[in-house]
Amino acid sequence: MAGERPPPLELCKAVNDLDKIVLREPRGCSAEVYLFGGQVLSWKNNRREELLFVSSKTAFKPPQAIRGGIPICFPQFSSSGNLEQHGFARNKFWTVDTNPPPLPTSSSVKSFVDLILKPTQDDLKNWPHSYEFRLRVALALGGDLLLTSRIRNTNSDGKPFSFTIAFHTYVSLSDISEVRVEGLETWDYLDNLKEGQRFTEQGDALTFESEIDRVYVGTPTKIAIIDHEKKRTLVMRKDGLPDAVVWNPWNKKAKSIPDFGVDDYKHTLCVGAANVEKPITLKPGEEWTGRLELSLVASSYCSGQLDPQKVLRGL
Ligand code: BG6
Repeated sequence: MAGERPPPLELCKAVNDLDKIVLREPRGCSAEVYLFGGQVLSWKNNRREELLFVSSKTAFKPPQAIRGGIPICFPQFSSSGNLEQHGFARNKFWTVDTNPPPLPTSSSVKSFVDLILKPTQDDLKNWPHSYEFRLRVALALGGDLLLTSRIRNTNSDGKPFSFTIAFHTYVSLSDISEVRVEGLETWDYLDNLKEGQRFTEQGDALTFESEIDRVYVGTPTKIAIIDHEKKRTLVMRKDGLPDAVVWNPWNKKAKSIPDFGVDDYKHTLCVGAANVEKPITLKPGEEWTGRLELSLVASSYCSGQLDPQKVLRGL
């Protein structure tokens, strides 16, 4: 019927026959979640502007991880353990969880999908632990994107397991040189470009002019990524995820990453809500919950600069 609103949730086929779920919100905001990787690959505001970056060179060929959106690094962040870099969750096909345990949801959420990842017999050879990783991706009225993760130890051998995790969010930017990140100043970080040594962030905000590969530890729950040129600010709120990964390979390193275009470094920054420094340990039957919320704030110039206080107060 003409003028009829599309349904709040649609399951469709994407490139290379990959399944994706499209979430919609009445004002026109949307999000797309791929079953491969349980990965959000698109998040658009009501002007249909894309807020996440996906590399034009990514192949969309499982089991190779898709470069962009919000890859989930689990059960290992980076190369800190024996598993493949960033763990295996981003290389697996998740399924729609049709009967998830109850999860309180705000009344402003009208569209959401529940996904689940469980190990196969083959997977247990790689990481010998049974788990259930439940992910709810929700789009709230006004377009906020909410990711709630629940990880349960379902081992029947009585063994605990430990993991690290990151939601490695690729934010879409006008130009990295026009971007400031507020909320991490004065916090400690582990610098992966300096053998993981610990430093304390100086200055009043992060700006970017070369490669960066850091894990900020024990950070506040709110981080603002301010894009001066687009006059917009992405606000990240996190809960249960005390750390924050900040990564941009810059031009030289980008050339060595086959699925990252040479100029892509200008148009994205990874800011990942994470739990890296102190791994989480779950005994059988125990569950961990982590939340990530992304919202967009239109920001205005204030004597040539955005007002960071306004941004951090969410005004
Ligand atoms: C960062 C890591 O978080 O992710 C880097 O600290 C890594 O070392 C980068 O290069 C990208 O990882 P990948 O596996 O997606 O290319």
